Amino acid sequence: MVIARAEAFAPATVANMGVGFDILGLAVEGVGDTVIVERRPQPGAVMKSIEGDGSKISLDADKNVATIAANALLQQLGSDVGVEITLKKGLPIGSGLGSSAASSVAAAVAVNALLGEPLAREELLPACLAGEAAVSGYHADNVAPSLLGGITLTTGTELSSIRKLPIPANMRLVLVTPAVEVSTALARKALPATIPLKQMVHQTGSVAQLVDAIYRADVRAIAHAMASDEVVEPARAHLMPYLAEAREAALAAGALALVISGAGPTLCAVLDGDSDSEGVALALEKVYLSRDMGCVVRQTSIAANGALVLDSSSA
Ligand code: HSE
Repeated sequence: MVIARAEAFAPATVANMGVGFDILGLAVEGVGDTVIVERRPQPGAVMKSIEGDGSKISLDADKNVATIAANALLQQLGSDVGVEITLKKGLPIGSGLGSSAASSVAAAVAVNALLGEPLAREELLPACLAGEAAVSGYHADNVAPSLLGGITLTTGTELSSIRKLPIPANMRLVLVTPAVEVSTALARKALPATIPLKQMVHQTGSVAQLVDAIYRADVRAIAHAMASDEVVEPARAHLMPYLAEAREAALAAGALALVISGAGPTLCAVLDGDSDSEGVALALEKVYLSRDMGCVVRQTSIAANGALVLDSSSA
């Protein structure tokens, strides 16, 4: 049976989890990108169309992360199958929600489904990374949770360097995405090349506390550790509109912490499951709207599942 069409969804992600720059990330429930792949006679992947991007994303197969990931996978498999890709963007670009990773992951998962799932989910990692690397650098803190779900610790880009951590049952998130774009490249350029030993000790201690707290499902301690970043946030804060005001408003409304999601400008408030998620969402919305800046607020949680095959149908 030849599968003619396959569709996959890949979730948004919150990379870094505050203090875990380039090594920690989590998958977000309910929001992400969708890719549909259909066979075409010529080998290789090309873009057919993109929806929901406001015409900002290139259809050029060498520039689009979805086609780059799809072609990397076809190459990895030595396949001469041809596919055309429809990308449905659920995520804004340059938002800190792992938009390029979600497109790359959804494309790789959809092509794998079209080919009858020759590879296990984990084996799609190199192809997803090839897509992500084209716009965001070769790091797996967005790609891994989008592909595998939950919270991931990525100490390298090999599969053996990726660990899934337990999902704390009682942890909720409120994400606010202000209507500005922050380029990941620019946000990475803002970072210091070296840091003092004292800061290194504090930062590694906070990451260790965070991993310990995740294993104990202690949401208060998780939030405290996430917010202990003394290296990355101070260097990037000037790129995030109303960061201080948003933090103050979220904490006053009952959130335990607020951190930059990935390279920003999305901010991620961390809440205990019993807290007033609606109140935090309204408080965050007010910060931006009262300053005439649009924003999108999402009340959500950690997605246990990574990318999903939504449909695959035969010719
Ligand atoms: N860890 C990355 C960063 C995530 O903060 O730059 C964005 O790709």
